[in-house]
This record gives sequence, C-alpha cells and structure tokens, in this order.
Amino acid sequence: VTPPIRLTVNGRECAVPAAPGTALLHVLRNDLELNSPKYGCGLGECGACTVLIDGVAARSCVIPVKAAQGRAVTTLEGLGTREHPGPTQQAFIDCQAAQCGYCLNGMIMTVEALLRRNPNPTEDAIRSELHHNLCRCGTHVEIMQAAMRAVQ
Ligand code: FES
Repeated sequence: VTPPIRLTVNGRECAVPAAPGTALLHVLRNDLELNSPKYGCGLGECGACTVLIDGVAARSCVIPVKAAQGRAVTTLEGLGTREHPGPTQQAFIDCQAAQCGYCLNGMIMTVEALLRRNPNPTEDAIRSELHHNLCRCGTHVEIMQAAMRAVQ
C-alpha cells in the first residue's frame, strides 16, 4: 500500500491517498475539494491552475503531488474568504476584472506571487508576469487595472 502524501495546504496539514505522480491540481480539486485552481490546458501553458508553492507561482497541472510534499501550498481559498477577501482578491473584485472568470483565479495567484516577491512592481513587470496567463474573453485591460490596484 502506498503511504499517503502529506501536504500543507492553506496552512492546514493533510494526508491524501494519492499516487505520487498524480498532478497536484487533481489532488487539490478532487481530494481536498479546493476548486479555485482550474483545469485549462493541462500542459502548464495557460495558468488557470496556478497556486503558490512556498510563495512562488506554480502550475499545479504539471506538478506531481509528491513534489509538493513538505512545502506550503496556497490556493485562492487561502488568500481570503467571500466575506473577507484578501487585498489582491479585493482589487480584482473592485475592478470587476472577470468576464467568464475561468482564468481569473490563476491571474490573482500570479499577481499575489509577484507582490510577495516585489511589493511595488512596475506596470511592465506586472504585464510581463501575466504574459503567460491566458484569458480567452479578452478582459486584459480590466485584469491589468486590477493588478495595478492591488499594488496600491
Ligand atoms: Fe495548468 Fe493550463 S491547466 S497551465
């Protein structure tokens, strides 16, 4: 019998009976019922599944759960609640940056990671950070406004 994988997610320790090679995204969604990371491409290219691992943005669809063992995983649920959104979440709400919303959680996590690394990034730095997060609705203007607001 494979021993359970031990994870710390949003500050909570848990043990999941997943095969070590299972994508972290699937464990988060299916085993831990954290549905904020989305399945988009499954290839590490769209950013919909972005979470933080030790504070750094990571694409959970291509990371085996075993690689996250012993590290701090943060999903959007870990940034705030519906009643008390975190500052980055609040900026995206204020700017009504979502259209369909599918990409948005990944966008927020990417901006959050940037702000943890650099609390005062330039517009160019934000643009470059979000360059590989795809939005098919084309709400890039609002997303950039939200990211700039999150800096303030
Ligand atoms: Fe992970 Fe697209 S679903 S990068």
